[in-house]
Amino acid sequence: MPSDGDARGADFALPPLPKAPRRVLLFVAMEAEAEPIARALGLAPDRLPLGSAGVRSGRTGALEVSLLSPGICANTRVDQIGPVHAAAVLARALERIPCDLVVNAGTAGGFESQGQRIADIVLARDTLFHDARVALGGYDAVARAHTRLSADEATLARMAAALDARVGLVSTGASLDATADELAFFARHGALSKEMELAALALVCREHGRPLVALKGITDLVDHHEPAHEAFMRNLARTSARVAEAIGPLLDELAT
Ligand code: ADE
Repeated sequence: MPSDGDARGADFALPPLPKAPRRVLLFVAMEAEAEPIARALGLAPDRLPLGSAGVRSGRTGALEVSLLSPGICANTRVDQIGPVHAAAVLARALERIPCDLVVNAGTAGGFESQGQRIADIVLARDTLFHDARVALGGYDAVARAHTRLSADEATLARMAAALDARVGLVSTGASLDATADELAFFARHGALSKEMELAALALVCREHGRPLVALKGITDLVDHHEPAHEAFMRNLARTSARVAEAIGPLLDELAT
């Protein structure tokens, strides 16, 4: 599979992958994404007190896996999606759950102009906040938080071949839709996917000195005329199943 872009211009980098990871903390934003992964890996609910966040745990091969999700909002009864919840929940979990690797899996928007299709898989080389605009030197880089994730090029290429995935920029923002300026930004940066958590998780991993790998499945095409929320809801179950299928092989690759 081709590798897209090269993460030039990333201002931050996460620690390299551990040679032989033993404990993985797997973050997923929505219960619809978490359930098929828990089934695929045979994970069981854990009673760890982490507020509204949910933890399921178990062993797969040589790895102990804790699957973390932000849980359901008590007021609105929907998943607590978005970068702020992601960062808060991961930071809290890292203080309680020992791990030597963080993995983020989930759904995301893709790009028709990049030749992507629904349920395609993307591995993140780098991530940033595409909706952070600060015209002040230094602050712009801090706010955008452009971060190179932990897998080196050879490992990304090996994982991409094993998973039939593409490798590239996964861009994070607080919105499901995209403005015209953001669409121009994605095209300029050759973004392969757009979602609502990864750059926030990367920031927390940087603060905690943890390596991070991320895999996304495409539910909607950001540069297509159909509104993202309609395609997203129609394709959520199918793409979540595809992501769940890819998680075992991804963990196998990371453990070898
Ligand atoms: N998750 C799935 N599709 C998305 C999109 N288009 N934007 C942000 N997050 C998403």
